[in-house]
Amino acid sequence: MRMTVIGTGYLGATHAACMAELGHEVLGVDVDESKIKSLQAGQVPFFEPGLPEVLERNIAAGRLDFTTDYAQAAQFANVHFLGVGTPQRHGSFAADLTYVRAVIEDLVPKLTGSHIIFGKSTVPVGTARDLQELANSLAGPDTHVEIAWNPEFLREGYAVQDTITPDRIVLGVREEASRAEEVAREVYAQALEASTPLLVTDLQTAELVKVSANAFLATKISFINAVAEICEIAGGDVVALADAIGLDERIGRKFLGAGLGFGGGCLPKDIRAFMARAGELGADQALSFLREVDAINMRRRDRMVDVAKRALGGSVLGRRVTVLGCAFKPNSDDVRDSPALSVAGSLSLAGAAVTVYDPEGMDNARRVFPTLAYATSASKALQDTELVILATEWQEFRDLDPAAAGELVAARHIIDGRNVLDVAAWQAAGWTVEALGRNL
Ligand code: UGA
Repeated sequence: MRMTVIGTGYLGATHAACMAELGHEVLGVDVDESKIKSLQAGQVPFFEPGLPEVLERNIAAGRLDFTTDYAQAAQFANVHFLGVGTPQRHGSFAADLTYVRAVIEDLVPKLTGSHIIFGKSTVPVGTARDLQELANSLAGPDTHVEIAWNPEFLREGYAVQDTITPDRIVLGVREEASRAEEVAREVYAQALEASTPLLVTDLQTAELVKVSANAFLATKISFINAVAEICEIAGGDVVALADAIGLDERIGRKFLGAGLGFGGGCLPKDIRAFMARAGELGADQALSFLREVDAINMRRRDRMVDVAKRALGGSVLGRRVTVLGCAFKPNSDDVRDSPALSVAGSLSLAGAAVTVYDPEGMDNARRVFPTLAYATSASKALQDTELVILATEWQEFRDLDPAAAGELVAARHIIDGRNVLDVAAWQAAGWTVEALGRNL
């Protein structure tokens, strides 16, 4: 099939490359010239394992190209995926739909014939219906445009795998004559042959599935972090507790990783936009618990700063602190709303001399927080430091040898912000180990 993918950020660039990998002919579209130039040259403008290979292979095979020209996109195909960003609106919890609407406004007047636009962006419930009205008002007399919603569930760090072999495909279609399911079945033929469930719903349900999934994941993380707060006071161990409750298959161990909490470009803004939309619908109460989910999450960062201060005798002023990790999670260079970078920044603003090391996130972090010191390796970051904070659980940090690391530092004191270290091994090497939600 021929298709365009409009928006070439995380979601769009991955979707475009992976659709080509499935054998489709794909044109990626973005208004950002530099992004398009880089993608045309086979370079992924962010870190995503496996994606550069998929991109290069499909450009070379002639199945994948990129453009900034909407007229070319309108000519190229009758199927379009919309994957632009829906960031948090400045000064509000609501989602900013400017980019989503701009795609419809730019594309639809250029279309002729019959087209389907599959929305993939995370949007407030009701958006697809509004976009259909907008499209109807912009389409020429002989042009027919259908808007369907096909939310995306990919995780950064596993984006290729999640796109090629998703665990489910959700498709929201409008009530009146819809061709979306038939077309989607062709787009996703490979996954459907492998028995991937396809759930066809109305537009509103599809929009809500996406935000509900992210709200549930955020709630699960904040639940265990709330229990971590109790463990810290009452003297429990949140890791053992998570293992124990996670064995109940109704609960499950995934997303019960207690520590610095969630960040990134999705979970934080999505729970806020969900609350904002509930308010607009007159149902604030239904989602007011998400305020607490957000608050618990943000408190973990403060708690880490407090533990660090206490570890250094009450103040970090003038003290040398190393923060391992600044990406919001491992296998990503994304620092948007990163708990790790937030902690590094707070400690620096409290007067500490903070050195950061992250395998991939430092270029992005430097743009957000240029005043931190960035080391070129973990060993260099550890050199002569008085306190180490493990803030993002990269495998490289999990694999650190406590004895060798101990030779580098000025004081063997580490705070495990992600509960991933082998505490006994670190203690045996002479380290004082602290962690969130545990009394070690
Ligand atoms: C999330 C969802 O998992 C995807 O399904 C969704 O498609 C995506 O948002 C999106 O809306 O685009 P992602 O933001 O890539 O994906 O990251 P996650 O793997 O969900 O992790 C989010 C945050 O939670 C990270 O900061 C991570 O460190 C934290 N986390 C995760 C915990 O603190 N504890 C856990 O047990 C798990």
